[in-house]
Amino acid sequence: MIVTTKQLFQHAYGRYAVGAYNINNLEQTVGLFRGNLGKSKSNADPVDAAKSAPFILQISRGARSYTDKRFLEAMIRTADQVFPEVIFAVHLDHGTEEACYDCIESGFYSSVMIDASHEKLPKNIEITRRVVERAHAKGIVVEAELGQLGGVEEDVTGSVCLTDPAEAAEFVEKSGCDSLAVAIGTSHGAYKFAGKQGLHFDVLEEIQKILPKGFPLVMHGSSSVPKEWVERINNAGGKMKSASGVPEEQYLPAAKLGVCKVNIDTDGRLVWCAIHRESFRDDPANFDLRPPGTLFMAAYADYIVHKNTMLGSAGQLEAVRKALKE
Ligand code: G3H
Ligand code: 13P
Ligand code: ZN
Repeated sequence: MIVTTKQLFQHAYGRYAVGAYNINNLEQTVGLFRGNLGKSKSNADPVDAAKSAPFILQISRGARSYTDKRFLEAMIRTADQVFPEVIFAVHLDHGTEEACYDCIESGFYSSVMIDASHEKLPKNIEITRRVVERAHAKGIVVEAELGQLGGVEEDVTGSVCLTDPAEAAEFVEKSGCDSLAVAIGTSHGAYKFAGKQGLHFDVLEEIQKILPKGFPLVMHGSSSVPKEWVERINNAGGKMKSASGVPEEQYLPAAKLGVCKVNIDTDGRLVWCAIHRESFRDDPANFDLRPPGTLFMAAYADYIVHKNTMLGSAGQLEAVRKALKE
């Protein structure tokens, strides 16, 4: 069942975070749906209520143009039929104004992100406001972004990029957005922190205090880049250096401060890369795509269960279903 992110956040706020996972292809989609029902090896496995979680499936502009956006929509609609117990939102990740309108008009997306965070405050408000008006008219909710994600690789380390709490209050009030992505020290990709850098919980706390009670926050760039997966990649011929991410132990403290949506893409790519590299290393005579694909779907499903456990969303699916009926 497709719901809005707002409906998911109402249940999660202050208690746990909902995982927002990017998808690009069929194997990722199947692994994601299985994982959120606690199934691993087969679609026919029984649903495991203790592991089942609501989730957000997010689609970037890159994913939409990788093959054709219509393939993604058809795949997701089919997954919704194959796995009828799921509860999820379909969300556009990092949309431009044009991409947002396309998704709003499609009648398929339940949530869009307008990312005008590169603009100055008044322009960001103006663009976000326009998207909010078009989206709300169709019952679709809007995530916006304020502040810019850093990146140690670009040497962006100062507080200049972090979200200013006072600006966040003005932005939320004037733009009418339903959730806000805040910059609190993370960055996209596999190389997030060097040395002592980490999440700025002090800034997050200030943002939560100044915004209306219960206003949902979003954390981008939240992959944990587990050493285990980086080592598996490198042991199978990869060359990843100094990769580091957000410690998973920090997800729940962030959720307690209002972070309802935690964006994870890189970790899924690491699982994909490790499984495929190992598969070709261990069976060099193989040229069939299905053996590594089968291993990947199972490994990704297991990884989603692990992530949801760290986010606190594992085991919440039936409670969400009940709350939606009230
Ligand atoms: O924040 C960006 C996501 O990781 C999506 O990445 O644009 O390469 O699909 P992508
Ligand atoms: P990661 O690069 O940490 O996976 O972040 C993904 C993200 O923020 C998608 O919008
Ligand atoms: Zn992002």
